[in-house]
Amino acid sequence: MQEILIQIKNEAMSLIVGAEERDIEQIYIDFLGKKGKLTLAMRDIPKLNIEERAEIGRLANEIKDILEDQINDKRKEFKKTSKTSNHNSSGKQRFEDLDVTLPGIKPPLGSLHLVTQAIEEITSIFEKIGFSRVRYPEVEFDWYAFGALNFPNNHPARDDWETFFIEQQPDPKMGPVLLTPHTSSGQVREMLKGKLPIKMLNIAKCYRRQSDVSHTQMFHQFEGLVVGEGINISHLKGVLEFFVKSYFGENRTFRIRPYHFQFTEPSFEIDVTCGVCDGVGCRLCKEGWLEMGGSGMVHPNVLKAGKIDPEKYTGFAFGWGVERVLMMKEGISIDDLRLLYSNDLDFLEQF
Ligand code: PHE
Repeated sequence: MQEILIQIKNEAMSLIVGAEERDIEQIYIDFLGKKGKLTLAMRDIPKLNIEERAEIGRLANEIKDILEDQINDKRKEFKKTSKTSNHNSSGKQRFEDLDVTLPGIKPPLGSLHLVTQAIEEITSIFEKIGFSRVRYPEVEFDWYAFGALNFPNNHPARDDWETFFIEQQPDPKMGPVLLTPHTSSGQVREMLKGKLPIKMLNIAKCYRRQSDVSHTQMFHQFEGLVVGEGINISHLKGVLEFFVKSYFGENRTFRIRPYHFQFTEPSFEIDVTCGVCDGVGCRLCKEGWLEMGGSGMVHPNVLKAGKIDPEKYTGFAFGWGVERVLMMKEGISIDDLRLLYSNDLDFLEQF
């Protein structure tokens, strides 16, 4: 009997030592379970005579304790390794710990800058009525910005634009180099392409020496130019109406006011009813109107500079500020234009 017990112990021990995690419970059942080898062997102990019984009984219990301890140690060892592997590699345990009901981590969402959004919206409105978007140099010759636009040399009107000049030897024909103060500098460049009729939408950065709540040194303008046979003021008004209703809404309306520009004749300024007070008058607009920008019928001298016969063709042009119309649309939520360029995320994330 003693030999049988020792044999069982040795067999069990060699299995336990080499056991994989999946084997250990089976080893327990095979040796210590109800029908396990040791359990069955111990059932025979009462059959032994009295002298043997006590000794064999002690031995059997000792072996039972040893096997139980060994198996428990193994179990602990396996638990430990499966826990650590749970942290650093894949495996069954990992999925058991995954709680799919926990809220996910939201990645921060970016968005287009307010001015970019406005440019896209303005472009799509004008594209609907046949305008094509173009861009011309922002570092430009005096000729395109002023000379070709009917500004006499040293005309005081040039001061209105308070232009930034580039320190560079002036070109003998084109004059000094400057940062474009307005998108009108694209008018003659477009005409010189030599294709008629023209339906241009020039959206670009412009630069002037100015900085206050409604002016920044760099800003954007969108310039429309239409040239063809029989173009008149009613066409200008139709385009204006389409833009105002599409961009600001059906409830807004506009007026044209006589004005002066060197490169248009007659010239107008365009005002739109204030969206905050509906044209009644408030702190944003004063008397219900907001000034949107300039427009007029293209001056014959400008057509000539663009090699277009003013006897045969006529045209209209308008130039408005992107930030300006944006401010007029958003109302008092943008009460300082400089905020658009301050990189202040708290401000920009509102839109
Ligand atoms: N260029 C003018 C400005 O910047 C606006 C304008 C454009 C006026 C086209 C008439 C025609 O103020």
